Amino acid sequence: MKRLVLDVQNVGKGFGGLRAIDRIFFQLFEGEILSVIGPNGAGKTTLFNCLSGFYRPDEGAIFLGGKSIVGQKPYQICRLGMARTFQNIRLFDHLSLLDNILVGDSNHHQTTFFGILFRTVAHRTYQHLARERAMKWLSFVGIEAEGRTKAGHLSYGNQRRLEIARALATDPQVILLDEPGAGMNPSEIAGMIELISKIKKLGITVILIEHHMKVVMDISDRILVLDHGEELAVGTPLEIQNHPRVIEAYLGGEKERGADL
Ligand SMILES: Nc1ncnc2c1ncn2[C@@H]1O[C@H](COP(=O)(O)OP(=O)(O)OP(=O)(O)O)[C@@H](O)[C@H]1O
Ligand SMILES: [Mg+2]
Repeated sequence: MKRLVLDVQNVGKGFGGLRAIDRIFFQLFEGEILSVIGPNGAGKTTLFNCLSGFYRPDEGAIFLGGKSIVGQKPYQICRLGMARTFQNIRLFDHLSLLDNILVGDSNHHQTTFFGILFRTVAHRTYQHLARERAMKWLSFVGIEAEGRTKAGHLSYGNQRRLEIARALATDPQVILLDEPGAGMNPSEIAGMIELISKIKKLGITVILIEHHMKVVMDISDRILVLDHGEELAVGTPLEIQNHPRVIEAYLGGEKERGADL
């Protein structure tokens, strides 16, 4: 039996009169991939913001590795093992790829004020190890050759890979990927499917928001379909493709055109 990693119970969040998400329940086990799909404004990113502590849910409970995380700050939730990427890429364009990862490396930060002030051996060793670890993740996502170039010079697809490397460098149990395939061409999409499969193989649990249906159907263990903030359906890719309410709401008529959700 796989370990329960994330338990989401009755989570809801409103903005004024709008229920952005409502009555969301799911449980995720080690190494599972859950995709969250639904049209623009369905509440997908709001769900990520609630899980990662950027928003406090109005109601409900969230347990990460058995610990309640509602009310914790994003950096605390990250330390407890949940990392994320952003729909609108958030990188430091003027820093190198390596430094983009190192600035987010507070999860491993053991050095003291005096260590930094006097550049002690311990601090230098720490820096060396941190760089090695950052390089390892750049290589994992396939952009190690560009380690010293500035993030702003990367292609759009590689910027998305860098965001994933930065999230992985915090040693997460769960990673939240908000549209990692956005703006990618078909060959980059194939590479992204491969990368997400590799993350799963590490035993990391993945929650994926994605509009490219090929990515979703190829790699998800389960899919949660949101509609106006509520669960419309949940199931395996096959179940979702054949789900009457999903077909009626989104896929019907659009299947032939191969439209993405
Ligand atoms: N900070 C906020 N203040 C007010 N309304 C918000 C806020 N964040 C999200 N919303 C609203 O909540 C609803 C859900 O938005 P959300 O960004 O979660 O949708 P989404 O499913 O991620 O859409 P997309 O596919 O376009 O990224 C939308 O109506 C949005 O306008
Ligand atoms: Mg969104």
